[in-house]
Amino acid sequence: MQETVTNEKEVKWWQTAVVYQIYPRSFQDSDGDGIGDLRGIINRIDYLKKLGITAIWLSPVYKSPNDDNGYDISDYEDIMDEFGTMADMEELLDKANEAGIKIVMDLVVNHTSDEHKWFIEAKKSRDNEYRDYYIWRDPVNGGVPNGLGSIFSGPAWEWDEASGQYFLHLFSRRQPDLNWENPKVRQEVYDMMNFWLDKGVGGFRMDVIDLVGKIPDQEITGNGPKLHEYLQEMNRKTFGSHDVLTVGETWGATPEIAKLYSDPARNELSMVFQFEHVMLDQQEGKDKWDLKPLNIAELKSVLAKWQTSLGNQGWNSLFWNNHDLPRIVSRWGNDKEFHDQSAKMFAVLLHMMKGTPYIYQGEEIGMTNCPVSSIDEVEDIEAVNMYHDRLAKGYAVEDIMTSINAKGRDNARTPMQWDDSNNGGFTTGKPWLHVNANYTSINVKQNLDNPDSIFYTYQRLIKLRQENPIVVWGDFELIEHTAEEVFAYYRIYEGEKWLVAANMTAKENVFAADDRVMEIIMSNYNRTEIDVANLTMKPYEAFAVKVQG
Ligand code: NOJ
Repeated sequence: MQETVTNEKEVKWWQTAVVYQIYPRSFQDSDGDGIGDLRGIINRIDYLKKLGITAIWLSPVYKSPNDDNGYDISDYEDIMDEFGTMADMEELLDKANEAGIKIVMDLVVNHTSDEHKWFIEAKKSRDNEYRDYYIWRDPVNGGVPNGLGSIFSGPAWEWDEASGQYFLHLFSRRQPDLNWENPKVRQEVYDMMNFWLDKGVGGFRMDVIDLVGKIPDQEITGNGPKLHEYLQEMNRKTFGSHDVLTVGETWGATPEIAKLYSDPARNELSMVFQFEHVMLDQQEGKDKWDLKPLNIAELKSVLAKWQTSLGNQGWNSLFWNNHDLPRIVSRWGNDKEFHDQSAKMFAVLLHMMKGTPYIYQGEEIGMTNCPVSSIDEVEDIEAVNMYHDRLAKGYAVEDIMTSINAKGRDNARTPMQWDDSNNGGFTTGKPWLHVNANYTSINVKQNLDNPDSIFYTYQRLIKLRQENPIVVWGDFELIEHTAEEVFAYYRIYEGEKWLVAANMTAKENVFAADDRVMEIIMSNYNRTEIDVANLTMKPYEAFAVKVQG
């Protein structure tokens, strides 16, 4: 890969990287307790190397009582017992670095666990030195201070009988929010980040970072007035002097807001995760559980907008999946008769765009959503709380379960399917969450044995990015005049032009562009000839071709 771009700007490693997200609890168990662990990850580094990724985003591995599977941290400088020890973590860092893979840690600092020593202290009395690390308010008219709601259902205020005040929790009541207005809190966070930077981590994925500037009394949660001031301070005091990847989880970002985070001149973050595209299947003004069908025209315009609007004041992250989202192949693709084609189609469409792609574990082998028939099979606190909340509000159980099966987070959290042995080779014990029954046909082994598998599509896409500057740097141009269900675009770079097209449905669609194909780069139907002037695209067909510039 070239070291400089034409304008001689310094190239950052994360601009040419492909990141793989590991949800450790479900990746690989090595000791038979049914829970994935660090040793399991170490044992699979060769697999990740074979895929070709160069960075891992590691979901939280810190000490935690697991009210929200590690996103409730009780000690930021220690490892969760089920996952292993700090020595294992150091070994993972060493082995990954040796394999050319950086480890990006999950930084969860909007809140801690209620078992964190700061919160245990803070609860002791109103004048405890840690009291002000959290957000406490007196009752108003004998009830909650205001109408702020928790993202995990119910009010965001929890009553603390002993001290006679409420504390704020935007997530579960066991995840009290930190008070970022307190400079001591910020310094604690920076010290902890430096602890991890000293261990050689490759960066941070910042959990719900857009919430840390909240002003609870005005019911402002996202994008508070001091948010960017805090991030600039964080950059200065921690990673600013390191060559690392930082990516903020920002549900409320528009392109204008994204530039505030990722304009290099502002010294904040490398990039953000924006979620506009994955929220297109929810009803306007409602929450994620209120479903509506995807409108492909909207998807095209949202993604094209993000591709073209950041310019050199930002950098995109590219993703369909993560541990909070349903599997795209099931949600917007077709995980039955067109499983293989639709999984590959989503891969080609995304990986040929401009930005840093993220692959969520199992995506590269076509893992699917895993429907459940009753709430008893659900582990995730978000879905369980929503179930009870909606039940109390009079929703029908059937409708609630429809939402959970479409959007519930457990869908993407079922254990990694390594082979067709018991439990998909994830564990020799009882898995903490059911393994998807389709592990006998969808698994790593079967993918590796088949040269035409989804895995090899991902491997090839990663290689294309590593070997072709156009994939990293090329301008993006949406092709407007196509069938509504065909998503097509050009990438253009230094006289070279690639055309990428994807039919996003199970119906055939005609494609017609005024270009002459010079070379087929990729075709999920293994076509050896493509005439883009007149082509009937097959169900979920996708291709990338080099055309005359
Ligand atoms: C976003 C994380 O990705 C999600 O899994 C978690 O529940 C919330 N933030 C709270 O930390």
